Amino acid sequence: MDLYEYQARELFASYDVPVLGSRVVTNPADARAAAEELGDGLKVVKAQVKTGGRGKAGGVKLANSPDEVEAKAEAILGLDIKGHIVHKVMVAEAADIAEEYYFSILLDRAERRYLAMASVEGGMEIEQLAVERPEALAKIAVDPIVGIDEAKAREIVAAAGFKPEIADQVTNTILKLWDVYKGEDATLVEVNPLVLTPAGEVIAVDGKVTVDDNAAFRHPHHADFVDNATEDPLELKAKESDLNYVKLDGEVGIIGNGAGLVMSTLDVVALAGEQYGVKPANFLDIGGGASAQVMAAGLDVILGDAQVKSVLVNVFGGITACDEVANGIVQALEMLGDAATKPLVVRLDGNNVEEGRAILAAAAHPLVTMVGTMDGAAAKAAELAKEN
Ligand SMILES: Nc1ncnc2c1ncn2[C@@H]1O[C@H](COP(=O)(O)OP(=O)(O)OP(=O)(O)O)[C@@H](O)[C@H]1O
Ligand SMILES: [Mg+2]
Repeated sequence: MDLYEYQARELFASYDVPVLGSRVVTNPADARAAAEELGDGLKVVKAQVKTGGRGKAGGVKLANSPDEVEAKAEAILGLDIKGHIVHKVMVAEAADIAEEYYFSILLDRAERRYLAMASVEGGMEIEQLAVERPEALAKIAVDPIVGIDEAKAREIVAAAGFKPEIADQVTNTILKLWDVYKGEDATLVEVNPLVLTPAGEVIAVDGKVTVDDNAAFRHPHHADFVDNATEDPLELKAKESDLNYVKLDGEVGIIGNGAGLVMSTLDVVALAGEQYGVKPANFLDIGGGASAQVMAAGLDVILGDAQVKSVLVNVFGGITACDEVANGIVQALEMLGDAATKPLVVRLDGNNVEEGRAILAAAAHPLVTMVGTMDGAAAKAAELAKEN
């Protein structure tokens, strides 16, 4: 789960990472009140959306007075930033900025370790810096067993070329950001920019944190970070049924068992869909024990997506044999009744495939087409999506 900046900032504060005072609000009047509470001085009003480049999109504005904070909040609330509507703004004390830096820790899956990145050339988009001036971005591998200890933090500071006067402060901040990363089971902690004030203080004025949902059981408080108002309603519904569902932007609904099979199903549907101008509508892995209940819950979520025009069920019978899956499909269609309205292409293979196909053939549901191969089924589902 990606956190909002204000949530990342809360975590930073709880780990003693230096941040500035701030409040998060949902309307201009509260923004004014927040500015008054924060006291005198320049403020910054920042759109809270889970996407980058807010500044360039007009989502970060300085304000000199509570009046101005209210006006800027009014202008920012409701903005559409790369498809994300702004429902909340953060009112924060503005930092007096002498220099801007970049720092992040992330999971390096390919190398099976962590990677720390730092640059004294902040203020620019890091993707651009990495391409145009790669030598200005220090990349330091972090052994996951050792983590970032003081020696490693100093190595990062030296590699990035932080000036000696602030080396201790930056080292300390990096150690605290590592505490956040480790303590919260994060997969990303990014500060862009980390700023130096003219008074010589180092402060994190932006924060991006992604926490690993697989570790959610160790962090009950992460549930408080979930923002039901902006979560996709279909993804929420799927979560309630414990389904592994990700909404995508396409027309062919996908159900499969096992993440690997579902991923490859997305690939073949994307390929088959090219000639029909259709794409996969979602990722949905119903896992090993594909009972009728689970199948019905999955179908229900997918059919709730108005964009979906056809559904491909691609199951490889393993521990759960094909006959059980076939019964699951038949019962799911019974349970859904009139709610099932879109054509279903089913491809079954593996354990007890003959029995499974016989069950579907006997049920002869008007919406169901059986296809023997994965490529054939993908082509059929794409064709039906186009026709509908
Ligand atoms: N509290 C603050 N005080 C002073 N200036 C700030 C503050 N917060 C942000 N800024 C200025 O605004 C710029 C953009 O802010 P920020 O990094 O938070 O958003 P962004 O980079 O546009 O968004 P994202 O990081 O999501 O891409 C910063 O580089 C900094 O110059
Ligand atoms: Mg930023």
